[in-house]
Amino acid sequence: MANYADMKNNDAIAAKIDQLRKQLHHHNHLYYVLNKPSISDYEFDQLMNELLRLETEYPQFNDINSPSRRVGSDINENFEQIPHKYPMLSLGNTYNESEIRDFDNRIRKLINSNFQYVCELKFDGAAIGLTYNNGKLVRAVTRGDGDKGDDVTPNVKTIKSIPLILNGNYPDEFEIRGEIFMPRKGFEAYNIERQKKGEDPLANPRNGAAGSLKLLNSALVAQRPLDCYLYYLLGSSLPTNFHSQNLQKAKEWGFKVSEHFKICSSIDEIIEYINYWDKERKNLPYDIDGIVIKVDDIRLQEKLGFTAKSPRWAISYKFKAEQVNTKLLSIDYQVGRTGAITPVANLEPVFLAGTTVKRASLHNSDIIANLGLHKGDTVIIEKGGEIIPKITSVVVDERNDTAEPIAFIKKCPECGTTLIRYEGEAAYYCPNSMYCPPQITERIIHFIGRKAMNIDGLGSKTIELLFKANLIHNVADLYQLNENQLIELEGIAEKSATQIITEIKKSTEIPYARVLFALGIRFVGETVAKKLAKAIPSIEQLQNTSYEELIKVEEIGDKIAQSILSFFNIESNIELINRLKKAGIQFKTTTSALFPNSQKFSNLSFVISGKFTIKSRDELKELIEINGGKNLSAVSPNTDYLIAGENMGPAKLSKAEKLGIKIINETEFIEMVEK
Ligand code: IVH
Repeated sequence: MANYADMKNNDAIAAKIDQLRKQLHHHNHLYYVLNKPSISDYEFDQLMNELLRLETEYPQFNDINSPSRRVGSDINENFEQIPHKYPMLSLGNTYNESEIRDFDNRIRKLINSNFQYVCELKFDGAAIGLTYNNGKLVRAVTRGDGDKGDDVTPNVKTIKSIPLILNGNYPDEFEIRGEIFMPRKGFEAYNIERQKKGEDPLANPRNGAAGSLKLLNSALVAQRPLDCYLYYLLGSSLPTNFHSQNLQKAKEWGFKVSEHFKICSSIDEIIEYINYWDKERKNLPYDIDGIVIKVDDIRLQEKLGFTAKSPRWAISYKFKAEQVNTKLLSIDYQVGRTGAITPVANLEPVFLAGTTVKRASLHNSDIIANLGLHKGDTVIIEKGGEIIPKITSVVVDERNDTAEPIAFIKKCPECGTTLIRYEGEAAYYCPNSMYCPPQITERIIHFIGRKAMNIDGLGSKTIELLFKANLIHNVADLYQLNENQLIELEGIAEKSATQIITEIKKSTEIPYARVLFALGIRFVGETVAKKLAKAIPSIEQLQNTSYEELIKVEEIGDKIAQSILSFFNIESNIELINRLKKAGIQFKTTTSALFPNSQKFSNLSFVISGKFTIKSRDELKELIEINGGKNLSAVSPNTDYLIAGENMGPAKLSKAEKLGIKIINETEFIEMVEK
């Protein structure tokens, strides 16, 4: 290791730091972009440690683009919305050869000269726009609504294949757009890690990429296996007049540009490219969902221009969902919270679009009948939206002559009660709502959910244990549990028992609208519950509201009104509510009860940012809404108040200051409400 004692002056230290940064940028590029590392991980770490040590010792040389900054920060950033300098449009989609030929004909009618297309892979991830000034990454913005997107720079800086500093002869100012994605292997490994920690797996690599960009903690983003291909340069002084040559240049500056793009002169070449990649895509280490075809000559692109939504000079071809054949092994029938029976097909495991599929929902008996499903059938499956597997048809030719058609069950698989079908509904129901075990446990699981009573520490497994141990039969029983009962259950230690009891108690503070949702009245979802709680601010009033009054409430129609009336017609539901009342659960919209129909914030807009101690963000939002105010997500000249909590994003704060917006804390806001 170098000896710095003899570094007599700051210049020598600055030069050393600069040299280390250059070396690390170079090795990052070799490793993450070119996949050709020239030093070992160990040697890389040594260089990084040396840099970190010098940066800590000499903070005056700090640089936000140092390779050491890629580890992310723990600060909770709120995203600022940034207008795109050039709107971030999407592409027109085509799904078959004739639509591609139409596109080519349209272009040829408008351009009389010879020209070429560039065909590229359509990466399946999240679009990003990166702005570079004087070779430095200054901003990374998501697509957002096309006109403005989220500033996710700290998160994007953790993606190692995105250069923070460029090499060579780049324009002073330009934007480059691309796709952030999760390579399949990284996605699978990451999901295994998540499951080991008891976390839910991410649905697919695309959601993984898009979700990661929106994480508020860039240190967490740094742990996600993200990568980025760049495919589109924008700016007033681009190096050449051809898209393909600009991509080549971008590669020289340090960007990861796919080597699979191809210049095509005829429609037949384009079709050949499409067919090749449709077959070959399964061998790529990342997902693509189609092909993008672009006119190469930028002057022609300008001539062709844009429609309101997309460029005329480019189009995408979307691959058809991948399909595979497999065998139907058996059908399970699941009973949900409302008693609805969902048939689920067990399939011979088969690999499809990135994951192994073993099960597919059949939704209801009509679907089974329409497919004409028989026992042991060979079925064709695909993934809807590339996520959820579904059976699209049956290969009748492969059916055994003696195979019997699938007959939907007549009795509940859990409690044996005869199933019924309501008029106009596709599902069969088990009507034994009071005693059918999964209906009981699912109702309790719904009640404790994050968007309902948010009882942390209690999960579906514990609920099932408690139910089996005869300790709970309904949601009111939760409030009579004690620590000793919990400790006796398998796998619950003293500490978690205490936590569960504390969390159950804490749930008595959950506002009425969420309690109403938690009760699980059919068709009363989160939004309906909010509207109801606002219009009819207590459970007693709701219980006594007539059908005519109910349907006057915004978003309440015949179906919901009937369902509410039948809920309150059941004696055991009234008993349940009375027990919950005794436990201290909120059955009144407190603020609106105190300030009925207050309009004190009408015409006022608020932005809430940071962490709060007295009320939750949702409660603050509710107070604003109840009092006639508007909640905005971003600070803009239309904002009247910024309610600033702990650790709020510095960008938001300084923007609010610049715009002269009133900045208040939580206590000041509550005082405003109570005044
Ligand atoms: S070009 C104005 N090229 O697909 C044209 N887009 O709806 C800008 N995408 O928004 C897009 N791979 O998120 C382009 N090679 C590629 C692409 C690509 C994926 C995404 C991108 C775009 C969407 C099209």
